[in-house]
Amino acid sequence: MSNGCNALWTGEASEIVEHLLQEVITQRELGGDIDDPLTDKIKRCHEITSGQNIFLSHVLPRESEIQKKISSATLADPILRSASFMLSGHLVGELLKMVAEMTGAKTILEIGTFTGYSAVTLADTSFCEELVTLDNNPYCEEFLERQLKGTRLEEKIRVVIGHALDSLQKLRDEGKSFDMVFIDSNKTEYLDYYKCILDNNLLNARGVILCDNIMWGSDTFMDQSSPIGRALHRFVEFVKTDDRVDQMVFPLRDGVMLIRSK
Ligand SMILES: C[S@@+](CC[C@H](N)C(=O)[O-])C[C@H]1O[C@@H](n2cnc3c(N)ncnc32)[C@H](O)[C@@H]1O
Repeated sequence: MSNGCNALWTGEASEIVEHLLQEVITQRELGGDIDDPLTDKIKRCHEITSGQNIFLSHVLPRESEIQKKISSATLADPILRSASFMLSGHLVGELLKMVAEMTGAKTILEIGTFTGYSAVTLADTSFCEELVTLDNNPYCEEFLERQLKGTRLEEKIRVVIGHALDSLQKLRDEGKSFDMVFIDSNKTEYLDYYKCILDNNLLNARGVILCDNIMWGSDTFMDQSSPIGRALHRFVEFVKTDDRVDQMVFPLRDGVMLIRSK
């Protein structure tokens, strides 16, 4: 799950820890344990976790006008605003931007458009010539096209509507391949998307894949009884042992996996 665009989290796991620590502090204060050494240590842990968010917001570059426009239009849309938690948001957006700039990605594929926050973020990077974004919701396409009308990104972004696995086959049939892929769609299908991309040469040599929400809060490593936690765990285990790639997880918000084709 993604946070709203205005919230700044280091990750859902750290949010949970911060919340739990606050609860313990409150309980100890109610019990009169205000000045004992253990309460001091718990308070210090709370300060460190919450301080990370303040620090991150302090160093984060400003959002671009088009990012701000997408965020505020999402929150104003009567149909989409209730799902605004799906926006990848400013922090993950900056990571995407940084990777696209560092790798010089010219062709970028995104799986999971929603209202286009990450699509515009990536399409607006210096080397990007074409960004193809996939979603199964036609309303998302209409929404994004309305936002892009008359902007410099209008010609750069192509939305493909349909089930992502069908759209990937379509792109393969068109002979497309990409320097960078951002996966942010149905979490239980990450492994299918990944296999489809790698098996069909949709990723160029030395291309990169970023996958959002890889820890799904903490379900991927704490609670594989949830279908998403189980599916992401299976995905991570598969990628870890796939000789075609190197991978690591960035513990940003609820985790972004970075995969590099060898
Ligand atoms: C988390 S949102 C994407 C957020 C977007 N990347 C952003 O930064 O704002 C996930 C999107 O995936 C789409 N989706 C879910 N399952 C899909 C599927 N099987 N095929 C295509 N799109 C799908 C949903 O309609 C939704 O818009």
